[in-house]
Amino acid sequence: MRLTLLLAYLFLQSVHGDWDASRFAWYSKPGDGFASGLPIGNGRLGALVYGGAVEKVTLNENSVWSGPFMDRVNKNSLGALSGIRTKFQNGDISGANSQIGGSMYGSPQSPRAYNPTVDMSLDFGHDSSKWSNYSRTLDTLMGTATVSYTLGGVTYTRQYVPSKPAGVVGIRLSASQAGSLNVKIGLSRSKQVTGQSANAGSASVTLKGNSGGGGDAITFTSELRVVAKDRTVAASGNSIQVSKASTIDIFFDAETSYRYSSSSAWEAELKKKLDSAVAMGFPSFKSDATADYSSLMGRVSLDLGSSGSTGSQTTDARLSAFKRSPNADPQLATLMFNFGRHSLVASSRDTGAKSLPANLQGIWNDNFSPPWQSKYTININTEMNYWPALSTNLAETHKPLFDLIEVVRQRGAAVAKTMYGCPGFVAHHNTDLWGDSVPVDGGTSYSVWPMGGAWLTFHLMEQYRYTQDKQFLQEKVWPVLQANADFYYCYMFNFNGNMVTGPSLSPENTFKVPSGMSTSGRTEGADIAPAMDGEILFALFTNIIDACKILGITDSNLTKAQDYLSKLRLPQIGSNGRILEWRGDYPEAEPGHRHMSPLWGLYPGSQMTPLVNQKLATASKALVDHRMQSGSGSTGWSRTWVMNIYARLLDGDNVWSNAQAFIQKFPSTNLWNTDNGPGTSMQIDGNFGYTAAIAEMLLQSHGPVHILPALPKAVAKGSVTGLAARGNFVVDISWEGGALKQAVVMSNSGVNLDLRVQNSVSILVDGKAYSGPISTTAGTKYVITRG
Ligand SMILES: *[C@@H]1O[C@H](CO)[C@@H](O)[C@H](O)[C@H]1NC(C)=O
Ligand SMILES: *[C@@H]1O[C@H](CO)[C@@H](O)[C@H](O)[C@H]1NC(C)=O
Repeated sequence: MRLTLLLAYLFLQSVHGDWDASRFAWYSKPGDGFASGLPIGNGRLGALVYGGAVEKVTLNENSVWSGPFMDRVNKNSLGALSGIRTKFQNGDISGANSQIGGSMYGSPQSPRAYNPTVDMSLDFGHDSSKWSNYSRTLDTLMGTATVSYTLGGVTYTRQYVPSKPAGVVGIRLSASQAGSLNVKIGLSRSKQVTGQSANAGSASVTLKGNSGGGGDAITFTSELRVVAKDRTVAASGNSIQVSKASTIDIFFDAETSYRYSSSSAWEAELKKKLDSAVAMGFPSFKSDATADYSSLMGRVSLDLGSSGSTGSQTTDARLSAFKRSPNADPQLATLMFNFGRHSLVASSRDTGAKSLPANLQGIWNDNFSPPWQSKYTININTEMNYWPALSTNLAETHKPLFDLIEVVRQRGAAVAKTMYGCPGFVAHHNTDLWGDSVPVDGGTSYSVWPMGGAWLTFHLMEQYRYTQDKQFLQEKVWPVLQANADFYYCYMFNFNGNMVTGPSLSPENTFKVPSGMSTSGRTEGADIAPAMDGEILFALFTNIIDACKILGITDSNLTKAQDYLSKLRLPQIGSNGRILEWRGDYPEAEPGHRHMSPLWGLYPGSQMTPLVNQKLATASKALVDHRMQSGSGSTGWSRTWVMNIYARLLDGDNVWSNAQAFIQKFPSTNLWNTDNGPGTSMQIDGNFGYTAAIAEMLLQSHGPVHILPALPKAVAKGSVTGLAARGNFVVDISWEGGALKQAVVMSNSGVNLDLRVQNSVSILVDGKAYSGPISTTAGTKYVITRG
């Protein structure tokens, strides 16, 4: 018995020992539910691979949502606005709060939900109790998944390959012994199926459905094609049965009414894609797909130290060992970083017009009522999804967000007019694929927050800052900046000499009404002039001024932004030395709140960072420390926002301890972030926040290109290649003994390079002492060493 175990152990070592512990997630058993599937995707189609004896693959198409556009706007809003503002200004906080619901919430209160598309089932007639040598593997570099086991002396392998170039998902089933593959292949959906068939002649299975919700609900066609040359293929009911094959290839696509005006148009697209994948054949299909995937993933390579044999355990075993000895497996921290980038490449690609960004669950969903509708929550979560997009050199993955912003701009223009009587556009704290811009749900601490559009707009200017693409600035960024500012110029009002927002809130926190206001002591959510709004607007007006300078605009677009910038209420510091969340020193209702809203100006903004404003940075640190001491970081995404905040405070040790705490508490076995640990809601945002923070720990560029700004003591030696910096630089860094060994900065646009290394140590650039910003030549590398 012991010998068998030892042999099995040695065997597993020999099979899996060479798997890079930073690159692969792998398991020795099938998944047992949603958050154990291997998540892969091509940016439009997502797949979750569980690897059971009867394989079920959850397949998603990112435009299958629960119904058509709804105009939910509350027409009482405009009439009630000035009365609500007056109440706030007079200190009648509770009176104003109670008036918000009836006059401003939408009806119905919720927009659309992201829905599942279909499940694929592959029934091999195998008995999992009899197989051995089982492995199920996610390759984050190639974006593929593999399942393999040995049964009756035959090794069966399933390869899952989503392809961005081909636009479909491909699967190869193979057996080590000729003729031993027998499988029944089908598609299913638990509701709203409008047609289903299998055809032996074309070896295809088709399922048509719609998303409900009435009207012109989203309608789709999904189809799989089976390629099993010279083998018996028979249709049985709605499935295809293939017998005695050695290799079977399957290609899957789904197309929907979201992007095509008629079923004949989307079915022609589906046929075109499947025909060409079949014609190409699996080997070329796979090499194209993985070349594309790895060209993005391979740009960044991170080494935070080796885990040795600890890293060769299964990923679930590593996760549980990490709870006890986090320092033994630095490569799990690296794998988590790579998994975040993988998740973005899998769920957010430019797939043509109306690309859709990663939602609360990325692109993966098996539930018709997913948590929070799996929509786009734009008071942190959707934006967090894109935090690593630029810094980890995946600028292309940002484009679907810009497509959605375009949709939001159209919808939000109507809402700005109806709710606030203003031009430009507004969005509140959630949106869906239709660009829904009306307040969502009914709560004074989250619904009526007119800042979602401005936070989204911030991402456009960041894209310019990283890529230096002036045409993009002119054509894509400027019109949105201008339209967004037009809204605030009309919407903001004077309060004690400042231009402020309201009714608004500080997502999703509450406060106790202070003495001197009514109803004193009561917990409320809405107010005027919350700190976060001012910080987001500071970034908006600053971005407009910068864009005007770059584009040579000197008209009132510039002067108006300068004027409003000067009238903003800047972040205030309370008597306790902490950044104030509200317009006054209000008593806190929840000191450990999960949102870091008042620290927006620290991250993702930069107004409160130490090199820009040390006083605000110190008060920011006081607030985040206080929040953490009071129990914040309580959801996965909250914890990773905290990591980014400590990175911006140049506090690497706190980034690292929170990174380890994140891995100890939040990931499910497939590495997905959860709200409160395995078994609670999955939300992909925390994975992205984590990845962004690890990058932010090693390189920052909101000011100078700052190399190793927040290096933790525990990561004394390591390297990273391919991180991106604003100014269109790409930076490789290696360090040793907690200090820079060498950095290489590639200048892609030839802009000036302002450098800082760690705590401003003296450095050489190409062997010469560095004394201040240097001009660079596009296409040239600069080597930085310690002086
Ligand atoms: C175990 O599986 C691998 C593929 O993962 C295969 O190459 C190998 O032959 C199998 N070993 C045995 C003993 O069946
Ligand atoms: C801002 O610039 C646009 C052109 O981009 C112009 O049409 C508009 O009139 C300007 N607005 C103001 C207020 O100057």
